[in-house]
This record gives sequence, structure tokens and C-alpha cells, in this order.
Amino acid sequence: MPGDTITVKDNRSGKTAELPLLDGTAGAATVDIGPLAAQLGYLSLDPGFVSTASCKSAITYIDGDAGILLHRGYPIEQLAEHSTFPEVAYLLMHGELPTSHQLYSFNADIQRHWMIHEALRSFFSGFHYDAHPMAMMVGVVGSLSAFYHSELNIALEDHRRKSAVQLLAKMPTIAAACYRHSVGMPFVYPRTDLNYCENFLNMMFSIPGQPYYVDPVFVRALNLLFILHADHEQNASTSTVRVASSTGANPYACIAAGIAALWGPAHGGANEAVLAMLAEIGDIKRIPEYLDRAKDKNDPFRLMGFGHRVYKNFDPRATLIRKACHQVLEKLAHPDPLFELALALEEIALKDDYFIERKLYPNVDFYSGIIYRALSIPTNMFTVMFAIARTAGWVSHWLEMKADPAQKIARPRQLYVGSPPRDYVPLKQR
Ligand code: ACO
Repeated sequence: MPGDTITVKDNRSGKTAELPLLDGTAGAATVDIGPLAAQLGYLSLDPGFVSTASCKSAITYIDGDAGILLHRGYPIEQLAEHSTFPEVAYLLMHGELPTSHQLYSFNADIQRHWMIHEALRSFFSGFHYDAHPMAMMVGVVGSLSAFYHSELNIALEDHRRKSAVQLLAKMPTIAAACYRHSVGMPFVYPRTDLNYCENFLNMMFSIPGQPYYVDPVFVRALNLLFILHADHEQNASTSTVRVASSTGANPYACIAAGIAALWGPAHGGANEAVLAMLAEIGDIKRIPEYLDRAKDKNDPFRLMGFGHRVYKNFDPRATLIRKACHQVLEKLAHPDPLFELALALEEIALKDDYFIERKLYPNVDFYSGIIYRALSIPTNMFTVMFAIARTAGWVSHWLEMKADPAQKIARPRQLYVGSPPRDYVPLKQR
């Protein structure tokens, strides 16, 4: 209820502070800790933001215990079944599902911007052929402001919206260029007669001089993966985008910062790490050995694709991807042994007390790599695929925070545990 508070008593001074309780439209009430500093002179400590809301947001809602994920109020299951990735991107950015006219012009807008500047193409020749595609993505996306600076007045809403569309449109083109560079193939220009996912697959895999057949089952699978990765409220990379943009940095620099944060194996890099782990396990017989390693506190090995900071029941995206895996793999001439291994690993881990007690379930990335493999996407491109999809969320959060008059520069404080003040000791006396 508005006006509700929590009273905090300081046992050192005997003073009290009234902390307002804030209710969202769903989820736990949030304590406004501002008065802690103002009335008692204290800071709060929460490493990893385990119980800290960093902002107010109306984009995505997660109930981790119930396994619920909503974008602008719509359940992920319904979006996955009925929608397309551009439509979900529109929803995230604008707050409402588009009319057919709005969706048509949004798609046309994306298509108008999905070419990249010819000079940008030459950037790629500076990268060694075996450069990690995420390294190329960070560099090339970060450089976009050097090419598209005429609409970079972030104080203007229409400039902000144009930059957001530029990013959504150019990410697949840049991603495909990273791949083509790594295999020494000529870059393929985007085609406006294809939809978002078809165009991406064509830029990745078409061979000059040959018609390329885009398999509709693969297009549907890619569309699903992009929808499921589109946004996930204040995750590490989105928070990075928000922190970078709180300084007034340009959107291309902010999204490049998000890509860098996504790269880590505890976040977007997990899909690549899952495949590496499955390949290392190699055989169903070796699963117990790896489960023992995952449980051993002296071994840094973790079961990749398992566990989530927010989901403590199941990840609804993992359920949808697992189903799609079966559909895509049925199209393959030969079964994928890594999928069989992943199913067995999941089954054994879910019966194991260690995983049950800690509520560790497969997350979205446990199965996404298997589908990407079936689509012939190489393992080192998996996190790039995630970045293409998450751009929809990143730009939506960027748009939301830029429109918020209460937005401040992100400047956390700290609990200092270093040396007390002391005098400089001249070099000869040390
Ligand atoms: N394998 C084995 N043990 C695990 C795993 C795992 N994958 N994940 C968590 N644990 C254990 C921890 O060792 C800890 O055990 P303890 O209580 O005995 O010390 C307990 O479960 C809680 O783990 P935390 O690390 O505190 O959980 P946190 O919420 O900080 O971490 C994270 C979540 C980073 C996702 C973690 O589960 C993990 O590293 N998973 C593997 C990497 C992964 O799949 N990342 C993708 C996340 S989804 C995404 O970004 C799209």
C-alpha cells in the first residue's frame, strides 16, 4: 500500500529510519533504502546485486520460483508460439504489440538499415582469420558511432529510436560478416525479399553463384531461439548497457559494452561452454564422473547450462527449447550424439540430491547450442547468436532509461576494507 514503511533501528545510536515500501505491478515489494544513508548515514552492501533492484522497469517480469517470464505482460510461451522475433522486438521497444501496419513499417525500417557501411567491411580484414567472433563483434559494433553519427543526439527521441533500429538491423549483418571472415568466404549482402531470420541464414551460408534454400524448419527454430533470448530484465549484460548509458555514452558504445559482458561463460558464453563440456564428457558412461566434479568444491568445474540466479524451479525458456530440439533434430539425417548425451545428463542431474537441494535446473543455454549445431552454426558463434537476439532487450532498456527523467549516473559505493590512513615511506627506507 502507498505510504507503507519498514522501520530500521540502529542499535549503535538508538536512532530509527523509516524506509518506504514500494509495490510494483507484480512481484516482491521493494524497500527504498535511500533514507538509510540520509537518516542514519549508512550504505548497504549487496555483492552481485542478489537482493537489489537497480531500477524501475516496465519491460520484462520474471517470477523465478514459479518459472514465469513475461514481456510487457505477455507470457513467453504465447510469444514463442505465435510471434516473430521482429514483432517481439517491437513489443519490447514500444510496450504494445504492433498493428499489422506498424509491424510492416517496422520490418521495412529494419530492412532499410541492415546494410553496413562499405568502409566497415574493410575493418574485418584487420582481424586474423581465427579471431573469436565475439572479439570482432565488440570491436565492430563499438565502431558504429564513427559511421552513423548524424543521428546521435540522444536527447532527441527520434534519434534514439533510429539508433535502436540501426542496431537491431545491423547486428545480423555484422555477425554473419564475422563468420564469413573466419571461413574466408565473401560477405553476402542482406536481401530485402527475405525476413529477419531467413536473411541471416542466407548471409551466413549462401555460396556465391548458387541458389540457397532456406529450410523453413530451421527458420522457425532460429526465430524461436531469438525470441527466447530477446530480453531477460536486469541481467549482467543489460545492466552493463544501463550503467554505460547512464554516463551519456552513445548507444553503439553501450551495446558494445553489453556484448563484452555477455561474452563471459557465466552469462551468454554458457551456450558455447555447454557444447565444449558435452564434447569433453563424450560418453554417457562418464556422466557420473563429471557430476562428481561439479559437486566437488575443490574443483572449479561447474555443470554448464545448469543453474540460474533468478529461476529456482525451472527456466521456461529451457522447456520450450528442449521441445524445439526434438523437432529440429528430426530433420537431420543422423541423430546428434551430443543431444542424446545432454538428455541423459539432464535426467541424471535432476535426480541428484546436490542439484535438487540447490534448485539447479537446465537453463536456456543447456539446449540452445544443440539447435545451433543442427543449423550448422559453429560453436564459437553461439554467443554471437545470443547477442543478435539480446540486442532487442538492450535497446529497449536503453530507450526506457533515456526517457526516464529520474535517471542518474550509475555510481555504486563500497565497503572500504583497505589500509587505514598512513604516511608515504621513501623508497630507500622500505
Ligand atoms: N554446477 C554445479 N554447482 C552449481 C552450479 C553448476 N552449474 N551452479 C550453481 N552451483 C552451486 C554453487 O556451487 C553453490 O553451491 P553452495 O551453495 O554449496 O556453495 C550453489 O549452487 C549456488 O550457486 P551460486 O553460484 O551462488 O548461484 P548464482 O545465482 O550466483 O549463479 C549461475 C548463477 C552463474 C548461472 C551459476 O548457476 C552457474 O555458474 N551456472 C553455470 C553457467 C551457466 O549455465 N550460465 C548461464 C546462465 S543463463 C544466461 O546467462 C543466459
